Amino acid sequence: MPTNDTLIRGLCPQPRQVQLTEGQFPLPSVLTWTGPDEVINAVTILTERLAPALDVVRATSHTDDVSLTVIVDPALEAEGYRIDIDAQVRITAGSPSGARWAVQTLLQLLTPWVYGPGPLALKHLCLPKGVIVDAPHHSWRGAHLDVSRHFMPTSFIMNFLDVLAVHKLNRLHLHLTDDQGWRLPVPGWPRLTTVGAWRPGTVRGHQPPPDDNGCDDVAEHDHIPHGGAYTVDQLRAIDERAQLLGITVVPEVDLPGHTESVVAAYPELGCGAPISHPRTAFGVSEHHINLTDAALGFCRDVLDAVMEIFPNSPIHIGGDECPGKEWFGHKPTRTRLAELGITTPHQAQAWFERQICGHVVAAGRQVIAWDEVLEAGAPEEVTVMVWRDADDIARAAAAGHDVIAAPARHTYLDHGMETGPQAPVTIDAPMTMNDVAGLHDVLAAVNSPHLLGGQFQLWTEYLCTPAQVEDAAFPRGTSIAEQLWTGNPARPLSELEAQTRRLTAMGVNWHR
Ligand code: ACM
Repeated sequence: MPTNDTLIRGLCPQPRQVQLTEGQFPLPSVLTWTGPDEVINAVTILTERLAPALDVVRATSHTDDVSLTVIVDPALEAEGYRIDIDAQVRITAGSPSGARWAVQTLLQLLTPWVYGPGPLALKHLCLPKGVIVDAPHHSWRGAHLDVSRHFMPTSFIMNFLDVLAVHKLNRLHLHLTDDQGWRLPVPGWPRLTTVGAWRPGTVRGHQPPPDDNGCDDVAEHDHIPHGGAYTVDQLRAIDERAQLLGITVVPEVDLPGHTESVVAAYPELGCGAPISHPRTAFGVSEHHINLTDAALGFCRDVLDAVMEIFPNSPIHIGGDECPGKEWFGHKPTRTRLAELGITTPHQAQAWFERQICGHVVAAGRQVIAWDEVLEAGAPEEVTVMVWRDADDIARAAAAGHDVIAAPARHTYLDHGMETGPQAPVTIDAPMTMNDVAGLHDVLAAVNSPHLLGGQFQLWTEYLCTPAQVEDAAFPRGTSIAEQLWTGNPARPLSELEAQTRRLTAMGVNWHR
């Protein structure tokens, strides 16, 4: 059994208060629990991990010998919890989510092999006696995953959710659509997930400069077809698993830019450029949907579809990197913009965002967009996700928007860890543990209740496989998760070793 000091240092994210004392509570071969139905998911998380060694059963009568009691006490912070371990384990949580995080902490007091597939010896499953009191500093603690540039299988997303939960991250932002591939089924628009989901190849090496001849075949590519799309059932299963773990899936449909895949599938929704397939290169495309009634109707169909698949989710509508020049060369769009008195791409996008946001807000959903929407004035109800200039976090908050910090300089984990001839091709580099640690100062400088929290991003232009995504994500993402939970400066890498052992047990290809 490790010393109490080692156990405490191994907790990740670090709880607010931990007091461990002498003595242990050995887990019984049948662990009987009691608590309200609303904490069943929390107990399921425990049951799944301990299944190779013991049975978890719910007490059926008052005379049962109970080892775990779970209580929900709304007087605690919503995601907060208290654990008392003595002759039994008692969890008091501010909400069912708090109970889930308490279970994750309990598991971290056991051998890292509870995260593996087993076998697991019961005699090694002993909890230290003591008290832990904890709650998160930020309510939005997220991971973003781009499944458009490289399609990621459902099985990987399921595993990834488990890994996020171990870090007490509570948002998975799924970037479902982009120029290179559309992954979301939408009733009435079947070509999105056939034509729009497959590109004929991928650019070789680093991204070339943006194309300048108005057609789609500029970049030399590897001629290896690539793509895929999720079924509604797969997306619902992802959402269901996420909810069990206490994670909200935040689906993103990136509009109006980053829509070459849409134009490939439905050329009438574009501005006239000859696009026959999703983009094989990366970078910012000049080509995107037009602003006719037909295109706006398409956008509403997409939003209705995504809201139906993810009934409890905020909806991210993208809004980044839309050049908008094409709108003024497309006659029907130009005519509409002239009628509206609109003369610049920024104004045109602001008009578009008002139509789209209104649709999402009318459905009672939180609507999120990248910080470009600030440029011509975003509707007040938009939550702004700031990725470019970190100073925009405070600016957006001062303008009354809720804000999520996703500053590229500190949270773009697709940026490589190393530079030099041995380093893999990445979109940019380096992004070291120190760079990631810099997120703390960015967040601490924003003194506003509008700051909801932050997230790390995994864009997949050059992260082609789940193994590469995991290599990029951890342990840098571990540091970000801990900063978001604790609100404290990052701990050095050496202090995260226990967490990396858990990742190893889970089979995660974290960066050694
Ligand atoms: C972004 O990186 N274009 C949000």
